[in-house]
Amino acid sequence: MDFEPAARQTLPPAHFGYLATGVDDDLTLKANREGFNRIYLRPKRLVDASRADLRTEIFGTMWDTPIALAPIGNQKCFHSEGELPVAKAARSKRTLLILSTYTNYSLEDVAESLGAPAWYQLYPSPRWEITEKLVRKAEAARCPVLVLTVDTQAGRNTETLERFRRLDTRECVACHGTRREDFFRRKPLFAGIDVTGVAFSNPALTWEHVRRLKKLTPMKLLIKGIETREDARLCVESGVDGIIVSNHGGRAEESGRGTIECLPEVVEAAGGRVPVLIDGGFRRGTDIFKALALGARAVCIGRPYIWGLAAFGQAGVERVLDLLRAELELVMKQCGTTSIAQIGRASVGFRSL
Ligand SMILES: Cc1cc2nc3c(=O)[nH]c(=O)nc-3n(C[C@H](O)[C@H](O)[C@H](O)COP(=O)(O)O)c2cc1C
Repeated sequence: MDFEPAARQTLPPAHFGYLATGVDDDLTLKANREGFNRIYLRPKRLVDASRADLRTEIFGTMWDTPIALAPIGNQKCFHSEGELPVAKAARSKRTLLILSTYTNYSLEDVAESLGAPAWYQLYPSPRWEITEKLVRKAEAARCPVLVLTVDTQAGRNTETLERFRRLDTRECVACHGTRREDFFRRKPLFAGIDVTGVAFSNPALTWEHVRRLKKLTPMKLLIKGIETREDARLCVESGVDGIIVSNHGGRAEESGRGTIECLPEVVEAAGGRVPVLIDGGFRRGTDIFKALALGARAVCIGRPYIWGLAAFGQAGVERVLDLLRAELELVMKQCGTTSIAQIGRASVGFRSL
C-alpha cells in the first residue's frame, strides 16, 4: 500500500483519479479489500518448510509465481513509456502479463520488451468487424490467450474520477485530446480500423458473442468479469477455456461484494473443467494465499503494479512483484504448504460476521 501515496505524488490529479476510482460510493472497491477479513488462515505446524515452490502452470506454461499482471489500459497516463517498463519487469520476474485492448504500444513492441507475446485482453465491440480485426492482430502477434472482458458493458458511474478531474488545472486537449478520435489515435492496435461512432460499451451484448468469438479463433478464450455461479456455468457451456473472477477492481457495478466472496461459487460451478483466476483488491501475500486456498489458479494484480510503475518505472513494478512474492512464500511456509498444489480448502476458514 505504501506505493499508492508515492504514485499519487508523481501523477497529475486526473490520472491518479482514473487509477483510484471505483463506481458510485466506491463500496465495491472497499468490499474487495474487506472480503479478505472474513477469511482466516489455518496454519499447519512442524512441516519441513525450509523451501517453498511457487511455480504455477497455466495452459502449459510455467510461471515463477501464481501472481499475474491484470490488463490496465492507457498506461501512458502513468509513465512516459507506458506498457514497456511493465513488460520488461514481467520478463525479468517471469510473470504472466495480460495486455489491455487500450494499450498505448503495439502488441509487437510489447512482445519485444516482454521477450514473448503477452496474453491479449479484448473488449467486445458492438461492431463484429472490429472484434474480428483485433483478434486477427492478436493472432498475427502470436498471443496465445484472448481474455474477453464483459463487466463494463452496461456503462459505469465513476464519481471519484470526476472529483479528481476537477482538481486538475491542466488542459487535457494539449496533451492527449478529449475526443473519441484522439483516444483511438493513441492506440496503435486500432490503426487501420474504422472506429467511427463506436461506443466503449454495448449493453445489448449476449453469450452469442462469446460463442461466435470461440468459433472465430483457435486462441484460448477466457472471460473476465464473472461474479456468480450462474454465469460461470454459462462460461463452461459456451466452451470458454477459463474464467477470471473480477469486478474490474470495483469499477464496474456497485455490487457491494468483494471478488474473494464470489470465488467459491464460481470455482464450484466451474467444477475443475476450466481454470479460475481472480483479481480485485489483492495487496498482500495472505490475500493471494486465501484465493489459492479457495481454488483460484492464479491471482492478477492491477493498481499495485501501476503504483510501482508511476513512482519508479520498471524497478517499481519489479519491487511490487518481489514484495508480493516474498509475502506469499512466507505465508506458505507458515501454513506448512510448500507448493502451490498443497494450498487447499483446509488452509483457510470463514469467520462469521
Ligand atoms: C486504471 C485502470 C484501468 C483498467 N483497464 C482495464 C482494461 O483496459 N481492461 C480490463 O479488462 N480491465 C481493466 N482494468 C481492470 C483490471 O484489469 C483489474 O480487473 C483490476 O484493476 C483489479 O483490481 P485491483 O486494481 O484492485 O488489483 C483497469 C483497472 C484500472 C484500475
